[in-house]
Amino acid sequence: MNAIWFLFLLSLHFGAFQIGYGRNVSSRPAVVNIGAMFMLNSTIGKVAKIAIDEAIKDVNSNLSILQGTKLAVTMQNSNCSGFVGMVEAMRYMETDVVTIIGPQCSVVAHVISHVANELQVPLLSFAATDPTLTSLQFPFFVRTTQSDLYQMTAVAEIVDYYGWKEVIAIFTDDDGGRNGVSALGDKLAERRCRISYKAGIRPGAAANDSVIMDTLVNVALMQSRIVVLHVNSIIGFKIFSVAKYLGMMGNGYVWIAADWLSSFLDSNSPLPSETMDTMQGVLTLRQHTPDSDRKRAFLARYNKITGGSPGLNSYGLYAYDSVWLLAHALDAFFNQGGVISFSNDTRIRSVAGSTLHLDAMSIFDDGTLLLNNILQSNFIGLTGRLKFSSERSLILPAYDIINVIGTGFRRVGYWSNYSGLSTVAPETLYTKPPNRSSASQHLYSVIWPGETLSKPRGWVFPNNGKQLRIGVPDRFSYREFVSRVSGTDTFKGFCIDVFTAALNLLPYAVPYKFIPFGNGHENPSYTELVNKITTGVFDAVVGDIAIVTNRTKVVDFTQPYVSSGLVIVALFKKQNTGAWAFLRPFSARMWIVTGSFFLVVGIVVWILEHRINDDFRGPPKHQVITILWFSFSTLFFAHRENTMSTLGRLVLIIWLFVVLIINSSYTASLTSILTVQQLSSPIKGIESLIHSDDPIGYQVGSFAEHYLSEELNISRSRLVALGSPEAYASALKLGPGRGGVAAVVDERPYIELFLSRQCSFRIVGQEFTKSGWGFAFPRDSPLAIDMSTAILALAENGDLQRIHDKWLMQSPCSLDSTEIESDQLHLSSFWGLFLICGIACFVALLVYFLQLLRRLHSVPPSESSSVGGSSRSGRIQRFLSLMDEKEDQSKSGQKKRKVEKSLSENDRDDELGMKAKRKETTTSNSFTGHS
Ligand code: GLY
Repeated sequence: MNAIWFLFLLSLHFGAFQIGYGRNVSSRPAVVNIGAMFMLNSTIGKVAKIAIDEAIKDVNSNLSILQGTKLAVTMQNSNCSGFVGMVEAMRYMETDVVTIIGPQCSVVAHVISHVANELQVPLLSFAATDPTLTSLQFPFFVRTTQSDLYQMTAVAEIVDYYGWKEVIAIFTDDDGGRNGVSALGDKLAERRCRISYKAGIRPGAAANDSVIMDTLVNVALMQSRIVVLHVNSIIGFKIFSVAKYLGMMGNGYVWIAADWLSSFLDSNSPLPSETMDTMQGVLTLRQHTPDSDRKRAFLARYNKITGGSPGLNSYGLYAYDSVWLLAHALDAFFNQGGVISFSNDTRIRSVAGSTLHLDAMSIFDDGTLLLNNILQSNFIGLTGRLKFSSERSLILPAYDIINVIGTGFRRVGYWSNYSGLSTVAPETLYTKPPNRSSASQHLYSVIWPGETLSKPRGWVFPNNGKQLRIGVPDRFSYREFVSRVSGTDTFKGFCIDVFTAALNLLPYAVPYKFIPFGNGHENPSYTELVNKITTGVFDAVVGDIAIVTNRTKVVDFTQPYVSSGLVIVALFKKQNTGAWAFLRPFSARMWIVTGSFFLVVGIVVWILEHRINDDFRGPPKHQVITILWFSFSTLFFAHRENTMSTLGRLVLIIWLFVVLIINSSYTASLTSILTVQQLSSPIKGIESLIHSDDPIGYQVGSFAEHYLSEELNISRSRLVALGSPEAYASALKLGPGRGGVAAVVDERPYIELFLSRQCSFRIVGQEFTKSGWGFAFPRDSPLAIDMSTAILALAENGDLQRIHDKWLMQSPCSLDSTEIESDQLHLSSFWGLFLICGIACFVALLVYFLQLLRRLHSVPPSESSSVGGSSRSGRIQRFLSLMDEKEDQSKSGQKKRKVEKSLSENDRDDELGMKAKRKETTTSNSFTGHS
């Protein structure tokens, strides 16, 4: 009975397995079917097949990894064809595989990823490097090698490391090629470099020598000499061969081949010398896999199997690791209760009459679980640690950088996503903080094509043999900067000397010719001149070209060789000060307050003095005159009256100090009013320029016109084009009211020249734009970069200053006779003063003579007859003697006052003496005891 039950259960078990592997449930089955897809006749495919076979053997012989479950692999040759790949994939899906190792080609991967998504069968691709395959569109595509995103980052960093700016990309025009080159473009752009020309080659056998020849001829016509080759090995070697034939594998060229070359060299070395000759100096990349004992042991085993041909390459290592990765994931899958079961896809139905048995394809029910376990993998394989980042890429991508030389190749360094370019293995850097500074980027010397150690410049002038067409403004004014030698197409001037000096510093010859732009009768439009570069009329523009925003949008400028910026210049002249200029130093209020203080101080001193000081005594009229005379004479420190009281002296000394200050301020102010030139324009700076309505001059052809109208929103009707410094001067002198301008706006270098010759003008306000002059080149021109370096060298070695001094040394503005004359003061500024003085004299004399007449008439006739007779002369004589008497009286009055004063002083002394005596007596009495 027990035996029957045992047989029943056994039959159930096997029945369930047989059916369960088809549609039902089984955990840890005895065999797990997997598929493998690659191009069996390719280098990578050959190596991968051996590596996968060895890996399956290793896994199956290792009882600990899958605990007895064996992997059974079915291999298909997909030939890198999308269609064949799809058919093969469908055939796999009929056989209920849980994973496909592969595909090798990105084209196939793109197609079968759709199938894998639908049937939930993970693809473990050890060789499809197209960066877009890891997109969210293909969740079941898992790349077990490095993405070309990193390979192209490495290429971009190499290009940047050597200072090149433009590369040419030759690629197989399929998914892998295109997307790789697109990634290269992105990575170059991050480093301000670019792909200047993309040459796609048709994949497959259609790429014959003549197609390649045409492509390479186009490449040779380009400016860039850096060629990135992202193709397969068949096309790649054809390209090298044709390039060698065309002389493109020689001096000046740089070839960077993607990893197709390194894997071919790894597997097929030594190559015939004629093949090696075609690729001397080429750089190539190889996925970096750290050295380890396991890797060495596997290499030995591999070489034993293959006899060293084909040699092991990094793709073989990744193929080997892919099998192990699947084994680890399956183990985890079974541990998590994952079951290998398949169910029909209800969306796939065989159409009646169709021989396509699409319904034979079934969905791997726990495919997502297995996928998750694959993505969670973390173990050390032959290629190093296999662990996926959140973007489903292997962590720590790195490449060896290899230089093909002689009969073999040499590693010149490494690139890692962690620390960039280095000469030490990336794994030694992972313990240190990442360092991508340019100082830490290193590679060993490369032997470049042409067997040279010197780094190729990376570009040549396109259209070899042709001269660079350089546009130069044919100026009318300010010809010190640039001027055409009359009757020729040669130019001279400051800018031309700077250009030729910079050109002489370049390590290569630049054939060029100057082409004049403009008619020489007026300055040409500089913006039009610069735009001629964008239309291809000129290859460069040399001259006094301001580096301004709208120009930098269309061309590249060198470093500025002179600083520039817009300034405002206006007329300065001596004002017609007028007869009453002497009143202008003080305001009306100042005059009133000052005058009032003279009176107040006079009165205060009189109050303090008149009781004790005879100088302030006398009749009221006399005292009023004294007050006035005293106070106003302090203006000149000419007062004669003594001050006797302490308070009076205190007031006076402070007042004299005030007078001193007022006096000196008045003198200084009046001097400046009468002698210093004043701005005659209402424009005093950028603000008043914008807000005034006056006409403004600008230089014909200059960007200033655009700047004033577009940036400062100044109406164009206010802008007046001026063609020369003479036109500036006459327009400014005329002024805004008479058809001239209130100010001229131009760049500082021109204005400095202008002012060195014209003394009546000055810069008003600050320079309101900051800019400079440079030479213009087409966008991304490498010559612009080299010229910038040369200009900096000129600036540093002093040559730039010497050239400047040669052409633009400015003697200070020399005054001509008119200017000297205008420094003199004229009667016109003073006649008011003379008028006042004259009127004062006249009035005084008038009063005097009126007094005389009045007195003459008041002399009695009798007196006149008794003294001088009755005649008219007698009356006058009598009058004069009366005047003398009066004078004598006044003198004797004064004398009398002096005597009285001295008497009163004596009296006071006597009184004081008496008092002192009395005091003495009292004191002595008190000593003698008398009261
Ligand atoms: N220096 C004149 C201009 O660049 O517009």
